[in-house]
Amino acid sequence: MANDPIIRLRRIVKTYGTGATAFQALKGIDLDIARGDFVAVMGPSGSGKSTAMNILGCLDMPTSGEYLFHGHHVETLDRDQRALLRRRYLGFVFQGFNLLSRTTALENVELPLLYRGEDRHVRYDHGMAALDKVGLKPWWDHTPAELSGGQQQRVAIARAIVTNPDVLLADEPTGNLDTERSIEIMELLTDLNRSAGITVIMVTHEPEMAAFARTIVHFRDGVVERIETGGAH
Ligand SMILES: Nc1ncnc2c1ncn2[C@@H]1O[C@H](COP(=O)(O)OP(=O)(O)O)[C@@H](O)[C@H]1O
Ligand SMILES: [Mg+2]
Repeated sequence: MANDPIIRLRRIVKTYGTGATAFQALKGIDLDIARGDFVAVMGPSGSGKSTAMNILGCLDMPTSGEYLFHGHHVETLDRDQRALLRRRYLGFVFQGFNLLSRTTALENVELPLLYRGEDRHVRYDHGMAALDKVGLKPWWDHTPAELSGGQQQRVAIARAIVTNPDVLLADEPTGNLDTERSIEIMELLTDLNRSAGITVIMVTHEPEMAAFARTIVHFRDGVVERIETGGAH
């Protein structure tokens, strides 16, 4: 159904290690995320935010519990099926940008299309369109070293949206940026959320950045402590 949540977590537990060294990073997470929402995930360091993001992004598997994404029971899928889900529906942005240093902005942005096996013309058209959306079309042939931190993060966002994902996951996307650059990134995420309808889920430490979101999920010690809805927009 159209207004079913795009993401539904039920009793999600994640345990790292085994035996005496086992550590439960997530202790039973229940969370629904509506299609088209802009969610900020907050909480102290070590509270399980990145662990939850890796599970949401189908990069890691819960130890137990249910994860429904787009109606698929992710916890029942094998590695290849999860990779297909990722490529088809998800985009990722990380704190450290993770760009290839000796390649141009355009080549970085085209990479997910290369993995998909798209031909050169499709890669070029979609890559340039994504760079245009983040305001970096004139910089298409610059390498990361020739770009500022804020511009590098915008290239990373272009790379994340070049496949038209339904959901954009961003783990501390402004962690390495000053306030002015951080606000530019938040404005860009807000625009992608509103005009392209992308569901955005973003981890941040900063209340000023979380204020751009509509929903704020607070983590503490591996559980969802509380959820604030009806914020910013
Ligand atoms: N691969 C791992 N192996 C063992 N422990 C881990 C691993 N990843 C995270 N942890 C632990 O799980 C807890 C939650 O980590 P994390 O999800 O990265 O927290 P946050 O992103 O909120 O800072 C922390 O105590 C961390 O040390
Ligand atoms: Mg983290």
